[in-house]
Amino acid sequence: MVHNETQNNDFETFKSTSTKSSNTTYFDPKQATKYLIGADGLSAEEMMDSRKNGGLTYNDFLILPGYIDFPASEVSLESRITRNIVLKTPFMSSPMDTVTETDMAINMALLGGVGVIHSNCSPDEQADMVRKVKKFENGFITDPVCLTPNHTVADVRRIKAQFGYSGIPITANGKLYSILLGIVTARDIQFHEDDTTLLKDVMTTDLVVAQEGVTLDEANQILRSSKRGKLPIVNSRGELVSLLARSDLLKNLNFPLASKSPHSKQLICAAAVGTRSDDKLRLRKLVDAGLDIVVLDSSQGNSLFQIEMIKYIKKTYGDNLDIIAGNVVTREQAASLIEAGADALRVGMGSGSICITQEIMSVGRPQGSAVYKVAQFADQFDIPVIADGGIQNVGHITKALALGASAVMMGSLLAGTTESPGEYFYHEGQRLKKYRGMGSLDAMERHATQGTSGKSNDNNAAKRYFSERDVVKVAQGVAGAVVDKGSIRKFVPYLISGLQHGLQDIGAKNLKRLRDDVKGDKIRFELRTASAQIEGGVHGLYS
Ligand code: IMP
Repeated sequence: MVHNETQNNDFETFKSTSTKSSNTTYFDPKQATKYLIGADGLSAEEMMDSRKNGGLTYNDFLILPGYIDFPASEVSLESRITRNIVLKTPFMSSPMDTVTETDMAINMALLGGVGVIHSNCSPDEQADMVRKVKKFENGFITDPVCLTPNHTVADVRRIKAQFGYSGIPITANGKLYSILLGIVTARDIQFHEDDTTLLKDVMTTDLVVAQEGVTLDEANQILRSSKRGKLPIVNSRGELVSLLARSDLLKNLNFPLASKSPHSKQLICAAAVGTRSDDKLRLRKLVDAGLDIVVLDSSQGNSLFQIEMIKYIKKTYGDNLDIIAGNVVTREQAASLIEAGADALRVGMGSGSICITQEIMSVGRPQGSAVYKVAQFADQFDIPVIADGGIQNVGHITKALALGASAVMMGSLLAGTTESPGEYFYHEGQRLKKYRGMGSLDAMERHATQGTSGKSNDNNAAKRYFSERDVVKVAQGVAGAVVDKGSIRKFVPYLISGLQHGLQDIGAKNLKRLRDDVKGDKIRFELRTASAQIEGGVHGLYS
């Protein structure tokens, strides 16, 4: 152990302040902190020395606690996730067709993160999802089911049975952005026995409406005083643009953390594309729909195709579109993509819960080492890094951020929520939703089984993992199911709060402080033996 000068001086003080009791000499307890020699645990650099410790992942280590002088609620989780985009919470949802479509992307953005819309669908379908996120206004229903005056009472009853909606706006052509003519409410048809009656004969035409541009507060006020069930919002031409429902009044909470573009105030939206030439056309549609961040979705990002794609995107869209390139796990891979112009890197190969890449391809890297090494390298160029895959709990998020990531990307943790695509089903008494790897055979065959446009070039999952010329497909992922986790509106706040408590225990009031103190060796780590891992989990309970 090295004694420096201060410590020697401390030792002198010790001699003058120590007390003797029988044969043992004690230091003055009031000066205990002065007698700390060296620091407990390992620095991140010492821990991540792969020659000594091998490749590490989240369960292999712990962060040692620091000093708390602030409440957990004051911990800021703000983070820059690409060169130009800062979020209030460092969470991203994976571009997977069982994780992120419109609903997930809207709710992730409302809660301060961002959703990455998958590309395992036609370019038009993907662009449509991006458009819905960008056009979303909290509280306003922007895609209400509408009917024409020539639909019948039976149609209203069918919609009520199928979706539960009872106030249906009637427009000239039965679509949004068409002249609003009336509204049919449950009361209009409650005692109506003839199902074939046309809606023009039963609809309410004495309407209370609000003009486009009205704020949510103003619209709620109008809704309250009008005593109606629905408030249609119309533009200057009298066309329906959205709807507000009384039943949603209490649900229209504020979202103070929402991720919004500074200029348009619209929610921030990300989407994945591949690196083939037809992905350039796909990207054009996504950008026209308002895309903020493009994620180049490749399991091994260090390729000529990706480098050319990055250069093409930078040349075509300049700084209007941030690129998250990847995936990478080594500094060498990272260097190529940074040089090409990436605005952030996505790190992870083989760490995903549904991933079998490491077994099948024999390539990849334990996720803790991958995040640390790439983040350390990228930091020199001020390029943020996103830890993608392998996040099984909130503690893993804290660890990924401590290793230098600016955000985490989650698949399994967000699958099985109300906002993830797909229907719930029951198996052995459990309520489940499907979750599958995009490299699973199940996902590759989506276009054939799920009725998208059916063209093979619409299916980007196949391109992420296979060459189109592959005759025999080798799956890199599996398909399974995860249990119902409820809504991310409750789950993400839990993750936020868990992360704030983790940072409080470490003694870091914000993520910059966390990273700086790890870099400065002030935050310390310890490796966990196999038995330490067992000790750290729940054990010894009867039930
Ligand atoms: P999870 O959060 O551990 O479930 O991992 C999700 C991540 O796994 C995604 O963001 C992708 O990077 C990755 N991934 C998705 N599908 C596959 C696959 O089929 N094989 C390998 N990795 C996948």
